[in-house]
Amino acid sequence: MAYTSVIMHFFLISLALFSVSSLSATQPPTTTKPHPFILPIRKDPSTNLFYTSVGIGTPRTNFNLAIDLAGENLWYDCDTHYNSSSYTPIQCGSTRCTDTACVGCNGPFKPGCTNNTCAASATNSLAKFIFGGGLGEDFIFISQQKVSGLLSSCIDIDGFSSTAEDDSPLNGLPKNTKGIFGLARSNLSLPTQLALKNKLQPKFSLCLPSSNKQGFTNLLVGSIAGDPFHELSKFVQTTPLIVNPVPTGAISVQGASSIEYFIDVKAVKIDGNVLNIKPSLLSIDKKGNGGTKISTISPFTELQTSVYKPFIRDFLKKASDRKLKRVESVAPFEACFDSSSIKNSVPRVDLVLQGGVQWTIHEANLMVNVKKNVACLGFVDGGTEPRMSFTKTSIVIGGHQLEDNLLVFDLASSKLSFSSSLLVHSASCS
Ligand SMILES: *[C@@H]1O[C@H](CO)[C@@H](O)[C@H](O)[C@H]1NC(C)=O
Ligand SMILES: *[C@@H]1O[C@H](CO)[C@@H](O)[C@H](O)[C@H]1NC(C)=O
Ligand SMILES: *[C@@H]1O[C@H](CO)[C@@H](O)[C@H](O)[C@H]1NC(C)=O
Repeated sequence: MAYTSVIMHFFLISLALFSVSSLSATQPPTTTKPHPFILPIRKDPSTNLFYTSVGIGTPRTNFNLAIDLAGENLWYDCDTHYNSSSYTPIQCGSTRCTDTACVGCNGPFKPGCTNNTCAASATNSLAKFIFGGGLGEDFIFISQQKVSGLLSSCIDIDGFSSTAEDDSPLNGLPKNTKGIFGLARSNLSLPTQLALKNKLQPKFSLCLPSSNKQGFTNLLVGSIAGDPFHELSKFVQTTPLIVNPVPTGAISVQGASSIEYFIDVKAVKIDGNVLNIKPSLLSIDKKGNGGTKISTISPFTELQTSVYKPFIRDFLKKASDRKLKRVESVAPFEACFDSSSIKNSVPRVDLVLQGGVQWTIHEANLMVNVKKNVACLGFVDGGTEPRMSFTKTSIVIGGHQLEDNLLVFDLASSKLSFSSSLLVHSASCS
């Protein structure tokens, strides 16, 4: 396979600052009315990750894509068998190309094998390497609408001729997925592109389902009747989204900031008592370390060891006060209990946020039923070292803790609205 895709066999790379031109300059004006784009979200029981489904190209091919709040763009596997007659590669140096790298291929031409093509990242923080493909434009079918003019990245994974499965760009993702649906704060993420195209403020909501049910993501919130988000909006509270000034992904571009979503957790409370953790761990330092981010690629909340230890200790203490019967740990969890001793009385965990609001993590989001009669606190030790990044975040709020919570990311005002568990309002993401 002759495709000279950008595969970097390093865990991390650092890029020099490059200038970028505006995407909006080349977006054709559109007369279509703003629509909410509602995508289904499903949970994969074996990885505990979430995925959605979109159609791409001509003829339309459906792809399941893992949902990644840290993902810069939408990328998919345009393998050997895939072709699309409507695919247009973005040429190097053209106005829509903001990357200085260029990829080429000697043919036969198809998506994933085009010459003189603008490079685009295809990152997966669960993979061992950083991958890249070509930037292209093709039809994307989102909630029954055929949308043109959207940029995405595709890589022909068959072309990597790697035999080891864990070397794949798809490593760690649900088995039935073929790429990533990125929702990060970036110009190439679909919410940003759709908002620009429809002249709306970029805003999307996310409601992750608990197992076997279907949740949704609403990529563009218009004030439209029947918008499922509208019904639930009465339950939400709001906190600022913080910009970490240092890139937190595998690629560090000098002068750029992180495209992930951070919130300012001021304190963590267990049954009303403030956890004793160093304040410096909760804030973001000059090198981008510390702070709290929200991740859909971490199935469970990961606490940096110095936060994890006191958290588990205090939780166990409160659990014992409440007469929960502790049982043997079940990896990766430590605090496990006899389910019959729980009876709706697990200690209450609150995140105290900027603006004085509290995100209460209710029982369904705290506990994981790991086997018959055993439920564990679904938090894991995140260690002290960064993974696929130059920075270490103290608190990574993971998927289990987000299930059945409505989250609305408003990128224009840089605010996050969240509902805490909808189950307590007899509602859910399904
Ligand atoms: C994103 O687009 C805006 C305008 O649409 C531009 O000002 C900004 O520099 C772009 N950022 C990046 C990182 O490309
Ligand atoms: C892919 O489709 C395009 C357009 O239909 C065609 O020109 C091209 O030869 C096809 N490539 C391959 C490898 O079949
Ligand atoms: C690919 O592009 C390079 C540089 O633009 C050019 O020299 C080469 O002939 C092209 N190859 C094909 C097969 O078009």
